[in-house]
Amino acid sequence: MGKKGVDKRFEFGKNWRRFLSILDEERIMEAQKSLKRMLDVDHLNGKSFLDIGCGSGLFSLAARRLGAKVHSFDYDPLSVACTEELKRRYFPDDPNWSVERGDVLDKAYLESLGQFDIVYAWGVLHHTGAMWQAMENVAQLVNPGGKLFISIYNDQGNASSRWTMLKKFYNQAPNPIKSTIVLSLGCLWVIRSSLIKVINFQNPLPFKEWNEKKKNRGMSFWHDLVDWVGGYPFEVAKPEGVFNFYYKRGFELTKLKTCGGGLGCNEFVFVQKPKPLS
Ligand SMILES: C[S@@+](CC[C@H](N)C(=O)[O-])C[C@H]1O[C@@H](n2cnc3c(N)ncnc32)[C@H](O)[C@@H]1O
Repeated sequence: MGKKGVDKRFEFGKNWRRFLSILDEERIMEAQKSLKRMLDVDHLNGKSFLDIGCGSGLFSLAARRLGAKVHSFDYDPLSVACTEELKRRYFPDDPNWSVERGDVLDKAYLESLGQFDIVYAWGVLHHTGAMWQAMENVAQLVNPGGKLFISIYNDQGNASSRWTMLKKFYNQAPNPIKSTIVLSLGCLWVIRSSLIKVINFQNPLPFKEWNEKKKNRGMSFWHDLVDWVGGYPFEVAKPEGVFNFYYKRGFELTKLKTCGGGLGCNEFVFVQKPKPLS
């Protein structure tokens, strides 16, 4: 059910507010590294950067620190508040970073923004309730020669359908049930990965994975778990579906990071090919 439907949306901003309490310099540096790695740049000086569904604001902050002029927006007022808080902490009164509430499905709003050198929508478009429309909308926001960096949940067929049902249930459940679901899934995940490690004669403690989460975009295992279990609306796509969609719209794929066909997001960086002179 889409965002205009009766199903309850996940309140991303609440989870991001908790994440801000553990945000430190190391996580910010990891976020910066992830942008540099995927965009193939050393800095973003002189570039305009649009952070769609900015969430905690971490990647707006990372882009701003790399030198970009940043505009951040999110549908959830609490996510907007988190990003404003990061701006207040690190770049108070900075004219080169604006933050506001906005909807990636609102075409009039998007038109008012103009175009950007880098359009970033990580883990956002599949949570709008109209993923393909959102994918279409963001394409219009990229400057000729500019880059589009998105991540979309991998389509795992029946497993994705089962996750959709669980997420829907989670969002309608009372708080104690929500916490039980997250804790149970977290424990199951830790037990499963520990058993796999024991079989492979490795240290079964989960700290390595938790640290890897931190290294991967500066995120945290437990906050990502809540985001994953609760994140609804929820849609998925196969990597080739995303590739074909943007190829038809004049984009070339320059970077791809898949989740190996499993659970998680595939990351894509596309370049808007300049139109040939006629
Ligand atoms: C999983 S979080 C990702 C946050 C951030 N991009 C990151 O990489 O950490 C998804 C975010 O998308 C936002 N979102 C969902 N639907 C949206 C919409 N229609 N327009 C703008 N933002 C939206 C949510 O409120 C949430 O903050």
